[in-house]
Amino acid sequence: MVLNQDNTLFYKNILKDLDYNDLFREIKTFDVQKNSLKYKNSTVKNFSSNDYLGLSKNQIILDRVNKLKIRQISQCSSQLISGSSSKIKNLEKNLSLHRNVQSSLIFPNGYMANLGVLSALGDKDTIIFSDKLNHASIIDGCKLSHSKIEIFQHNDFLNLEDLVKKSKFKRKIIITEGIFSMDGDFSNLKEISKIAKENECILIVDDAHGDFIIGNENKKNYAGTPDFFNINEQIDIHISSLSKGLGCFGGYVASSELISKYLINKSRPFIFTSAIPEFLCELANISLKVSKDGTLQNKLYSNIDYFHKVIGEYPHYEVQKRRFSPIIPIIIGSEKKTIEISRRLLKDGFFIQAIRYPTVKKNKARLRVSISAEHKKKQIRNLIHSLNKITKAI
Ligand SMILES: Cc1ncc(COP(=O)(O)O)c(C=O)c1O
Repeated sequence: MVLNQDNTLFYKNILKDLDYNDLFREIKTFDVQKNSLKYKNSTVKNFSSNDYLGLSKNQIILDRVNKLKIRQISQCSSQLISGSSSKIKNLEKNLSLHRNVQSSLIFPNGYMANLGVLSALGDKDTIIFSDKLNHASIIDGCKLSHSKIEIFQHNDFLNLEDLVKKSKFKRKIIITEGIFSMDGDFSNLKEISKIAKENECILIVDDAHGDFIIGNENKKNYAGTPDFFNINEQIDIHISSLSKGLGCFGGYVASSELISKYLINKSRPFIFTSAIPEFLCELANISLKVSKDGTLQNKLYSNIDYFHKVIGEYPHYEVQKRRFSPIIPIIIGSEKKTIEISRRLLKDGFFIQAIRYPTVKKNKARLRVSISAEHKKKQIRNLIHSLNKITKAI
């Protein structure tokens, strides 16, 4: 079949329109080299990865990969049919210990974990209060839930409280991120958890970007944002990704036994897809152990502090200083200008993706810098110098 003329024109025009508005997206192909990326014929340093601890290229883990006795490439079935295995269950058990909850369930990725939780928990008698800047997977999960959706202003707990108090729905769910993926700020979890408790709301936190990075400062457990704020026991459901701080692949939901059992029976993105390969779970288990040491987090924090110190020498940049957050957006505004800066940075040997609508609001385009433990201070300094040279020139 070939698209007919009308359909061809329809899709072409949408792409043309995106291009005209500087919103067209294309894939760049990178190949991993030792400590950098190969892009076309040059070597670039990656400042756009979610591998905040550098665990995806950690030598201890890579050595273990090479020694793994892989008996099965794929589970070839969902967990509920024949796809489960003791290695998957072992990771679930360790993630429950990590989050200090009764039970965990591995999903194929964080995106599906959000779809899986929200679509299963919501119904027409449910209202979901969702932060305005929540990730696309939360927005899509809300849409699949058949619930009423109420968006509260970003991190505005007074607005949230007002909306919650006005609502007459039987079941109320609040969902927020722990560290916001495109802004790098922390959710006001203390206040939000108080509102959830007082108004008997189910509280869900997607902690894809805080998990394994921050945690209880005394216990040094790196168990994520709720533990950082000392309100872990106030969270009903934790959602997270294994593909960011842990440098592996997959997603998980940590909660009570009741919620786990409910998801196993009701969550379509869990039931109707193949289980994540068990060797990935074995690797995630190793990464989890390595991540608990704290050395990589200390390197990361030191790099974050250093980035802020150097960029602080150039006060004209709109950059908010947030300790411990590896996501540092530099707001440029214009989509065109952001693409151009990103393009020139690439020529100088640094990759920072230009983040544009619909990931963020129109005219709020940004360079989303991701700091990693594997960055060297010199690379951070050189990046900022290069950025400054480029922004001066355009
Ligand atoms: C807040 C948030 N939740 C979920 C996801 C999806 O996670 P995964 O990449 O494991 O699908 C992302 C990824 O970008 C995210 O930023």
